[in-house]
Amino acid sequence: MTYSFPDSFLWGAATSAYQIEGSPTADGAGRSFWHRFSHTPGNTHLNQTGDIACDHYRRFKDDVALMAELGLNAYRFSIAWGRIYPEGTGRINKKGIDFYSRLVDELLKKGIKPSATLYHWDLPEALDDRGGWLNHDIANWFGDYATTMFDALGDRVEMWATLNEPWVVMDGGYLFGVLAPGHSNLFEAPIVTHNLLRSHGTAVERFRASAAGKKGKVGIVVNLEPKYPATKSAEDLDTVRRTDAYMNRQYLDPVFLGKYPDEMRDIFGEAWPDWPADDMRLIKQPIDFLGINYYTRKVERYDAEVLPLRAKAVPQLDATETQTNWEVYPEALTRILLWTKERYGKLPTYITENGAAFYDPPQPIDGKIEDPLRVDYYRHHLRAAHDAMKKGVDLRGYFAWSLLDNYEWSHGYSKRFGLIHVDYSTQQRTIKSSGRYYADVIRTKGGALSK
Ligand code: FCB
Repeated sequence: MTYSFPDSFLWGAATSAYQIEGSPTADGAGRSFWHRFSHTPGNTHLNQTGDIACDHYRRFKDDVALMAELGLNAYRFSIAWGRIYPEGTGRINKKGIDFYSRLVDELLKKGIKPSATLYHWDLPEALDDRGGWLNHDIANWFGDYATTMFDALGDRVEMWATLNEPWVVMDGGYLFGVLAPGHSNLFEAPIVTHNLLRSHGTAVERFRASAAGKKGKVGIVVNLEPKYPATKSAEDLDTVRRTDAYMNRQYLDPVFLGKYPDEMRDIFGEAWPDWPADDMRLIKQPIDFLGINYYTRKVERYDAEVLPLRAKAVPQLDATETQTNWEVYPEALTRILLWTKERYGKLPTYITENGAAFYDPPQPIDGKIEDPLRVDYYRHHLRAAHDAMKKGVDLRGYFAWSLLDNYEWSHGYSKRFGLIHVDYSTQQRTIKSSGRYYADVIRTKGGALSK
């Protein structure tokens, strides 16, 4: 089999602000609810925080040089809302804007296309104090912040994502409490979903009205996980329908079809309200591209005890799992890409995250980090992406997660996802074998995938 990607294909890597930047309160930035959550004992692995992370805030030029060394032609990063609006709304902190402006200039100088995500989970603490994603006003707060960024960077940034993985914000943050702000409330989760989508719609509307919208593109990034039934029983098939609606359709159906899946009521019962038709019109704004984060699939079976979904994921005993216990299952990447095309129509699509945590040593050995399992993961997932492209998916780019080992949320620094190893005691960076392999794939426009 030979592999070949078009010249225009974006070869990128992705990161997010709180996971790599460090210096969370530098230059007048306001704290985020991740800062509060990670500083509250018991929430994260060894109570680790993003206070230092990869120190990217101060080392960004070196990191951009490493991107160039890998041959990346695109880089997906997120903007920390609190650096721009320390109080969440109102006063703009020019020094925060300057940081991202310098980052963008540095990228462009090296021929790397910047792709900015407005929200990757680090809500300003000041807004959390006002209810955060539960507050109906958040759509306007987000719209104002988005407008500020479109105006500040839109002359140089052409690719914008409104939200990263709204499903995780709702599920991890408000339903199961494992991520900031750490709530577990069945009645909050639907409101959060709806306010996230209203915020997305508002940002898209503002984008179209801004100068940035004249030449740039706007989209949303969702994490998708194909669901497979454990058996052919009616109960298991029904469980797959529910879990699929919950994870894969809850955000995309409203954005593309203007309605929530019927299963939402089945899952949330009386906690799922009827939403105003005007809101659904706001949410269903045409977007320019879809960003898909893909890591794994799930095999589900019915379990009446596990609420609200009445579903339990069944571990696959013969499977290779990553360090986060995610089954390595590249075929499902092809499947989910084809599914989005069939269900929502053909539109420019990017894989905005894909990657794996495997155990790597804390320090390089003889100056090297050999990570054969990760090399294999990338090889097979890039082949799967190629397969989808050949079958008609309008795939325009691929972003590896992640450029650097970084702060993996409540797992702290215990899970390494980088193409580049970070020694957290010295901040020394070492390109891993997987980074070298990805560089080869990029240089050969996919040719190296046949090896
Ligand atoms: C995704 C997140 C990203 C990182 C990876 C491993 O869900 O978008 O920040 O945590 O998982």
